[in-house]
Amino acid sequence: MEDTENILEANHLESDTFETNIRPQSLSEYVGQEEITSNLSVFIEASKIRNESLDHVLLYGPPGLGKTTLAHIIANELGVNLKTASGPSIEKSGDLAAILSTLEPGDVLFIDEIHRMPKFIEEILYPAMEDFEMDLVLNTDGKSRNLKIDLPPFTLVGATTRAGDISGPLRDRFGIVSKMQYYTEEELLQIVNRTSRVLNMPIEEEAARLIAKRCRKTPRIANRLFKRIRDFALVGGYEKITEELADKSLTRLKVDEYGLDSVDIEYLTSLITKFNGGPVGVETIATSIGEEVSTIEDVVEPFLLQEGFIRRTPRGRVAEEKSYDHLKINHNESLF
Ligand SMILES: Nc1ncnc2c1ncn2[C@@H]1O[C@H](COP(=O)(O)OP(=O)(O)OP(=O)(O)O)[C@@H](O)[C@H]1O
Ligand SMILES: [Mg+2]
Repeated sequence: MEDTENILEANHLESDTFETNIRPQSLSEYVGQEEITSNLSVFIEASKIRNESLDHVLLYGPPGLGKTTLAHIIANELGVNLKTASGPSIEKSGDLAAILSTLEPGDVLFIDEIHRMPKFIEEILYPAMEDFEMDLVLNTDGKSRNLKIDLPPFTLVGATTRAGDISGPLRDRFGIVSKMQYYTEEELLQIVNRTSRVLNMPIEEEAARLIAKRCRKTPRIANRLFKRIRDFALVGGYEKITEELADKSLTRLKVDEYGLDSVDIEYLTSLITKFNGGPVGVETIATSIGEEVSTIEDVVEPFLLQEGFIRRTPRGRVAEEKSYDHLKINHNESLF
Protein backbone atom coordinates (compact mmCIF):
# COMPACT_ATOMS: atom_id res chain seq x y z
CA MET A 1 0.00 0.00 0.00
CA GLU A 2 1.07 3.53 -0.70
CA ASP A 3 2.58 5.66 1.96
CA THR A 4 -0.30 7.72 3.35
CA GLU A 5 1.98 10.71 3.73
CA ASN A 6 2.37 10.88 -0.01
CA ILE A 7 -1.21 10.37 -1.00
CA LEU A 8 -1.74 13.99 -1.97
CA GLU A 9 1.36 14.35 -4.06
CA ALA A 10 0.32 15.04 -7.62
CA ASN A 11 3.79 14.22 -8.86
CA HIS A 12 3.51 10.60 -7.98
CA LEU A 13 2.36 8.36 -10.85
CA GLU A 14 -0.16 5.55 -10.60
CA SER A 15 0.40 2.06 -11.93
CA ASP A 16 -0.07 1.77 -15.68
CA THR A 17 -3.12 -0.46 -15.63
CA PHE A 18 -4.97 1.84 -13.27
CA GLU A 19 -4.13 4.83 -15.47
CA THR A 20 -5.21 3.19 -18.70
CA ASN A 21 -8.49 2.01 -17.22
CA ILE A 22 -9.65 5.34 -15.92
CA ARG A 23 -8.09 7.65 -18.46
CA PRO A 24 -10.72 9.25 -20.71
CA GLN A 25 -10.18 8.32 -24.36
CA SER A 26 -12.02 11.06 -26.23
CA LEU A 27 -12.56 14.80 -25.98
CA SER A 28 -16.19 14.24 -25.05
CA GLU A 29 -15.16 12.20 -22.00
CA TYR A 30 -12.50 14.70 -20.98
CA VAL A 31 -13.89 16.90 -18.22
CA GLY A 32 -13.14 20.62 -17.91
CA GLN A 33 -10.34 22.67 -19.56
CA GLU A 34 -13.14 23.84 -21.84
CA GLU A 35 -11.26 26.61 -23.60
CA ILE A 36 -8.49 24.21 -24.57
CA THR A 37 -10.73 21.34 -25.63
CA SER A 38 -13.20 23.43 -27.62
CA ASN A 39 -10.39 25.04 -29.60
CA LEU A 40 -8.60 21.73 -30.07
CA SER A 41 -11.70 20.05 -31.42
CA VAL A 42 -11.96 22.75 -34.12
CA PHE A 43 -8.28 22.49 -35.05
CA ILE A 44 -8.47 18.69 -35.14
CA GLU A 45 -11.56 18.78 -37.34
CA ALA A 46 -9.93 21.31 -39.69
CA SER A 47 -6.74 19.31 -40.02
CA LYS A 48 -8.78 16.23 -40.91
CA ILE A 49 -10.74 18.14 -43.56
CA ARG A 50 -7.54 19.54 -45.06
CA ASN A 51 -5.87 16.19 -44.69
CA GLU A 52 -2.86 17.82 -43.07
CA SER A 53 -1.13 17.15 -39.78
CA LEU A 54 -2.35 19.13 -36.77
CA ASP A 55 -0.20 22.09 -35.68
CA HIS A 56 2.27 21.33 -32.88
CA VAL A 57 0.72 21.61 -29.41
CA LEU A 58 2.40 22.70 -26.18
CA LEU A 59 0.58 21.87 -22.92
CA TYR A 60 1.85 23.34 -19.69
CA GLY A 61 0.76 23.46 -16.08
CA PRO A 62 1.11 21.73 -12.70
CA PRO A 63 1.34 17.91 -12.49
CA GLY A 64 -1.72 15.69 -12.55
CA LEU A 65 -4.03 18.05 -14.45
CA GLY A 66 -4.33 15.88 -17.54
CA LYS A 67 -1.56 16.77 -20.01
CA THR A 68 -0.59 13.19 -20.85
CA THR A 69 -4.27 12.24 -21.03
CA LEU A 70 -4.92 15.05 -23.49
CA ALA A 71 -1.97 14.02 -25.68
CA HIS A 72 -3.44 10.53 -25.98
CA ILE A 73 -6.86 11.97 -26.77
CA ILE A 74 -5.44 14.20 -29.52
CA ALA A 75 -3.99 11.12 -31.23
CA ASN A 76 -7.25 9.20 -30.77
CA GLU A 77 -9.36 12.01 -32.18
CA LEU A 78 -7.02 12.37 -35.16
CA GLY A 79 -7.12 8.62 -35.66
CA VAL A 80 -3.32 8.32 -35.70
CA ASN A 81 -0.61 6.58 -33.70
CA LEU A 82 0.94 8.13 -30.62
CA LYS A 83 4.66 7.74 -30.03
CA THR A 84 5.99 8.84 -26.67
CA ALA A 85 9.34 10.04 -25.37
CA SER A 86 10.46 12.18 -22.50
CA GLY A 87 12.86 15.11 -22.64
CA PRO A 88 15.60 13.62 -20.45
CA SER A 89 15.48 10.25 -22.27
CA ILE A 90 16.57 11.82 -25.58
CA GLU A 91 20.31 12.08 -24.99
CA LYS A 92 21.82 11.67 -28.45
CA SER A 93 20.77 12.83 -31.90
CA GLY A 94 20.45 9.13 -32.73
CA ASP A 95 17.76 8.75 -30.03
CA LEU A 96 15.68 11.43 -31.67
CA ALA A 97 16.33 10.05 -35.16
CA ALA A 98 15.21 6.61 -34.00
CA ILE A 99 11.91 7.98 -32.72
CA LEU A 100 11.28 10.24 -35.71
CA SER A 101 11.98 7.44 -38.16
CA THR A 102 9.08 5.39 -36.78
CA LEU A 103 6.52 8.13 -37.49
CA GLU A 104 3.85 7.64 -40.10
CA PRO A 105 2.14 10.58 -41.81
CA GLY A 106 -0.02 12.53 -39.36
CA ASP A 107 1.22 10.70 -36.25
CA VAL A 108 1.51 12.37 -32.87
CA LEU A 109 4.87 12.46 -31.16
CA PHE A 110 4.39 13.15 -27.46
CA ILE A 111 7.43 14.50 -25.62
CA ASP A 112 6.83 14.73 -21.88
CA GLU A 113 9.01 17.03 -19.74
CA ILE A 114 10.07 18.72 -22.93
CA HIS A 115 11.91 21.44 -20.96
CA ARG A 116 14.47 18.82 -19.93
CA MET A 117 15.56 18.04 -23.46
CA PRO A 118 19.24 18.84 -24.18
CA LYS A 119 19.75 22.11 -26.06
CA PHE A 120 21.43 20.53 -29.09
CA ILE A 121 18.55 18.05 -29.47
CA GLU A 122 16.20 21.00 -29.40
CA GLU A 123 18.09 22.47 -32.33
CA ILE A 124 17.71 19.27 -34.34
CA LEU A 125 14.03 19.42 -33.57
CA TYR A 126 13.52 22.88 -35.11
CA PRO A 127 13.77 21.85 -38.78
CA ALA A 128 11.88 18.66 -37.95
CA MET A 129 8.99 20.73 -36.60
CA GLU A 130 9.11 23.42 -39.26
CA ASP A 131 9.91 21.64 -42.49
CA PHE A 132 9.63 17.96 -41.51
CA GLU A 133 13.32 17.55 -42.21
CA MET A 134 16.14 16.32 -40.11
CA ASP A 135 19.78 17.25 -40.53
CA LEU A 136 22.12 14.63 -39.21
CA VAL A 137 25.85 14.90 -38.98
CA LEU A 138 27.42 11.49 -39.47
CA ASN A 139 30.95 10.77 -38.39
CA THR A 140 32.52 7.90 -40.24
CA ASP A 141 36.24 7.19 -40.53
CA GLY A 142 37.08 10.58 -39.10
CA LYS A 143 35.09 12.33 -41.82
CA SER A 144 31.85 14.08 -41.09
CA ARG A 145 29.04 14.11 -43.56
CA ASN A 146 25.73 15.95 -43.51
CA LEU A 147 22.64 13.93 -44.17
CA LYS A 148 19.21 15.39 -44.75
CA ILE A 149 16.33 13.10 -43.97
CA ASP A 150 12.76 13.77 -45.04
CA LEU A 151 10.17 13.10 -42.38
CA PRO A 152 6.47 12.55 -42.77
CA PRO A 153 4.32 15.43 -41.55
CA PHE A 154 3.64 14.87 -37.84
CA THR A 155 2.33 16.67 -34.79
CA LEU A 156 4.56 17.27 -31.82
CA VAL A 157 2.70 17.46 -28.53
CA GLY A 158 5.01 18.76 -25.80
CA ALA A 159 4.14 18.74 -22.11
CA THR A 160 5.86 20.61 -19.32
CA THR A 161 5.34 21.84 -15.80
CA ARG A 162 7.83 24.64 -16.50
CA ALA A 163 6.77 26.91 -19.32
CA GLY A 164 9.44 29.39 -18.23
CA ASP A 165 12.21 26.89 -18.91
CA ILE A 166 11.32 26.47 -22.55
CA SER A 167 13.48 28.49 -24.89
CA GLY A 168 11.79 31.17 -26.98
CA PRO A 169 12.65 29.58 -30.34
CA LEU A 170 11.16 26.22 -29.27
CA ARG A 171 8.04 27.81 -27.86
CA ASP A 172 7.53 29.83 -31.05
CA ARG A 173 7.40 26.66 -33.09
CA PHE A 174 4.24 25.48 -31.38
CA GLY A 175 1.13 26.70 -33.18
CA ILE A 176 -1.10 25.87 -30.21
CA VAL A 177 0.04 26.75 -26.69
CA SER A 178 -2.32 25.86 -23.85
CA LYS A 179 -2.12 26.42 -20.13
CA MET A 180 -3.87 23.79 -18.02
CA GLN A 181 -6.05 25.11 -15.19
CA TYR A 182 -6.93 23.65 -11.80
CA TYR A 183 -10.36 21.99 -11.87
CA THR A 184 -13.52 23.27 -10.24
CA GLU A 185 -15.32 21.26 -7.61
CA GLU A 186 -18.14 20.46 -10.06
CA GLU A 187 -15.66 19.18 -12.65
CA LEU A 188 -13.90 17.05 -10.06
CA LEU A 189 -17.27 15.70 -9.01
CA GLN A 190 -17.86 14.56 -12.60
CA ILE A 191 -14.41 12.97 -12.71
CA VAL A 192 -14.99 11.09 -9.44
CA ASN A 193 -18.39 9.88 -10.65
CA ARG A 194 -16.86 8.74 -13.91
CA THR A 195 -14.11 6.84 -12.08
CA SER A 196 -16.81 5.24 -9.93
CA ARG A 197 -18.62 3.99 -13.06
CA VAL A 198 -15.47 2.78 -14.77
CA LEU A 199 -14.27 0.91 -11.67
CA ASN A 200 -17.77 -0.34 -10.95
CA MET A 201 -17.82 0.99 -7.39
CA PRO A 202 -20.89 3.13 -6.65
CA ILE A 203 -20.42 6.29 -4.62
CA GLU A 204 -22.92 8.55 -2.86
CA GLU A 205 -23.15 12.10 -4.15
CA GLU A 206 -22.01 13.58 -0.84
CA ALA A 207 -19.07 11.18 -0.64
CA ALA A 208 -17.99 12.15 -4.16
CA ARG A 209 -18.23 15.78 -3.13
CA LEU A 210 -15.90 15.20 -0.18
CA ILE A 211 -13.26 13.82 -2.53
CA ALA A 212 -13.82 16.68 -4.99
CA LYS A 213 -13.22 19.16 -2.17
CA ARG A 214 -10.10 17.57 -0.79
CA CYS A 215 -8.03 16.61 -3.83
CA ARG A 216 -5.98 19.78 -4.33
CA LYS A 217 -8.19 20.52 -7.39
CA THR A 218 -6.24 17.82 -9.22
CA PRO A 219 -7.83 14.85 -11.06
CA ARG A 220 -4.90 12.55 -10.38
CA ILE A 221 -5.30 13.08 -6.64
CA ALA A 222 -9.09 12.69 -6.83
CA ASN A 223 -8.65 9.34 -8.53
CA ARG A 224 -6.02 8.24 -6.07
CA LEU A 225 -8.24 9.13 -3.11
CA PHE A 226 -11.06 7.21 -4.76
CA LYS A 227 -8.85 4.18 -5.13
CA ARG A 228 -7.81 4.22 -1.46
CA ILE A 229 -11.36 4.71 -0.22
CA ARG A 230 -12.41 1.83 -2.44
CA ASP A 231 -9.91 -0.31 -0.50
CA PHE A 232 -11.55 0.71 2.77
CA ALA A 233 -14.96 -0.12 1.25
CA LEU A 234 -13.81 -3.54 0.10
CA VAL A 235 -12.27 -4.50 3.41
CA GLY A 236 -15.19 -3.06 5.38
CA GLY A 237 -17.74 -4.96 3.28
CA TYR A 238 -19.40 -1.85 1.81
CA GLU A 239 -21.20 -2.15 -1.51
CA LYS A 240 -20.97 1.54 -2.16
CA ILE A 241 -18.90 4.41 -0.87
CA THR A 242 -21.05 6.29 1.62
CA GLU A 243 -20.42 9.77 2.94
CA GLU A 244 -19.55 8.36 6.34
CA LEU A 245 -17.06 5.89 4.88
CA ALA A 246 -15.46 8.58 2.70
CA ASP A 247 -15.18 10.95 5.63
CA LYS A 248 -13.63 8.35 7.92
CA SER A 249 -11.26 7.14 5.23
CA LEU A 250 -10.07 10.65 4.42
CA THR A 251 -9.39 11.22 8.10
CA ARG A 252 -7.45 7.98 8.28
CA LEU A 253 -5.52 8.98 5.19
CA LYS A 254 -4.71 12.27 6.94
CA VAL A 255 -6.11 14.28 4.08
CA ASP A 256 -6.26 17.93 4.90
CA GLU A 257 -9.68 19.61 4.62
CA TYR A 258 -8.31 21.93 1.91
CA GLY A 259 -6.47 19.07 0.25
CA LEU A 260 -3.07 20.47 1.22
CA ASP A 261 -0.29 17.89 1.29
CA SER A 262 2.62 17.55 3.70
CA VAL A 263 4.89 19.72 1.56
CA ASP A 264 2.28 22.49 1.40
CA ILE A 265 1.96 22.40 5.17
CA GLU A 266 5.73 22.44 5.66
CA TYR A 267 6.01 25.36 3.28
CA LEU A 268 3.37 27.41 5.11
CA THR A 269 4.67 26.47 8.56
CA SER A 270 8.18 27.47 7.58
CA LEU A 271 7.02 30.73 5.98
CA ILE A 272 5.12 31.70 9.12
CA THR A 273 7.26 30.38 11.96
CA LYS A 274 10.77 30.79 10.55
CA PHE A 275 10.28 33.90 8.43
CA ASN A 276 7.55 35.71 10.29
CA GLY A 277 5.14 35.25 7.41
CA GLY A 278 7.51 36.83 4.86
CA PRO A 279 8.33 38.48 2.61
CA VAL A 280 10.97 35.87 1.92
CA GLY A 281 12.61 34.61 -1.27
CA VAL A 282 11.61 31.28 -2.76
CA GLU A 283 15.19 29.95 -2.59
CA THR A 284 15.29 30.58 1.15
CA ILE A 285 12.03 28.74 1.77
CA ALA A 286 13.10 25.88 -0.48
CA THR A 287 16.35 25.45 1.45
CA SER A 288 14.59 25.63 4.80
CA ILE A 289 12.30 22.71 3.95
CA GLY A 290 14.79 20.76 1.85
CA GLU A 291 12.90 20.91 -1.45
CA GLU A 292 14.03 21.89 -4.94
CA VAL A 293 13.18 25.44 -5.98
CA SER A 294 11.61 23.99 -9.13
CA THR A 295 9.27 21.77 -7.09
CA ILE A 296 8.25 24.74 -4.99
CA GLU A 297 7.63 26.92 -8.02
CA ASP A 298 5.93 24.36 -10.26
CA VAL A 299 4.03 22.15 -7.86
CA VAL A 300 3.58 23.80 -4.47
CA GLU A 301 3.12 27.51 -5.08
CA PRO A 302 0.67 27.52 -7.99
CA PHE A 303 -1.99 25.90 -5.79
CA LEU A 304 -1.22 27.97 -2.68
CA LEU A 305 -1.43 31.16 -4.75
CA GLN A 306 -4.62 30.15 -6.47
CA GLU A 307 -6.26 29.29 -3.15
CA GLY A 308 -5.13 32.51 -1.48
CA PHE A 309 -2.78 30.98 1.10
CA ILE A 310 0.14 33.09 -0.06
CA ARG A 311 0.83 36.02 -2.33
CA ARG A 312 3.83 37.07 -4.36
CA THR A 313 5.38 40.47 -3.80
CA PRO A 314 8.49 42.04 -5.35
CA ARG A 315 10.34 41.27 -2.10
CA GLY A 316 9.24 37.66 -1.85
CA ARG A 317 6.44 35.40 -0.69
CA VAL A 318 4.01 36.50 2.00
CA ALA A 319 1.60 34.35 4.01
CA GLU A 320 -2.06 35.39 3.82
CA GLU A 321 -4.46 35.38 6.78
CA LYS A 322 -5.95 32.13 5.48
CA SER A 323 -2.65 30.33 6.20
CA TYR A 324 -2.57 31.51 9.81
CA ASP A 325 -6.19 30.43 10.26
CA HIS A 326 -5.60 27.08 8.67
CA LEU A 327 -2.49 26.30 10.71
CA LYS A 328 -4.22 27.74 13.80
CA ILE A 329 -1.36 30.14 14.43
CA ASN A 330 -2.24 33.48 15.97
CA HIS A 331 -1.00 36.10 13.54
CA ASN A 332 -0.16 38.75 16.16
CA GLU A 333 1.68 36.34 18.41
CA SER A 334 4.12 35.49 15.66
CA LEU A 335 4.77 39.17 15.03
CA PHE A 336 6.66 39.96 18.22
N1 LIG B 1 -9.99 16.22 -17.78
C1 LIG B 1 -9.97 15.03 -17.19
N2 LIG B 1 -11.07 14.28 -17.12
C2 LIG B 1 -11.02 13.09 -16.51
N3 LIG B 1 -9.93 12.55 -15.95
C3 LIG B 1 -8.80 13.24 -15.99
C4 LIG B 1 -8.75 14.50 -16.62
N4 LIG B 1 -7.51 14.98 -16.54
C5 LIG B 1 -6.80 14.06 -15.88
N5 LIG B 1 -7.56 13.02 -15.55
C6 LIG B 1 -7.11 11.86 -14.80
O1 LIG B 1 -6.05 12.27 -13.94
C7 LIG B 1 -4.92 11.42 -14.05
C8 LIG B 1 -3.67 12.25 -14.28
O2 LIG B 1 -3.68 12.86 -15.54
P1 LIG B 1 -2.36 12.97 -16.44
O3 LIG B 1 -1.47 11.81 -16.19
O4 LIG B 1 -2.82 13.20 -17.84
O5 LIG B 1 -1.72 14.28 -15.84
P2 LIG B 1 -0.43 15.09 -16.33
O6 LIG B 1 -0.87 16.52 -16.46
O7 LIG B 1 0.17 14.44 -17.50
O8 LIG B 1 0.55 15.01 -15.10
P3 LIG B 1 2.18 15.09 -15.10
O9 LIG B 1 2.54 16.53 -15.24
O10 LIG B 1 2.54 14.57 -13.73
O11 LIG B 1 2.67 14.23 -16.20
C9 LIG B 1 -5.22 10.46 -15.18
O12 LIG B 1 -5.29 9.16 -14.62
C10 LIG B 1 -6.57 10.81 -15.73
O13 LIG B 1 -7.39 9.69 -15.69
MG1 LIG C 1 1.97 13.35 -17.67
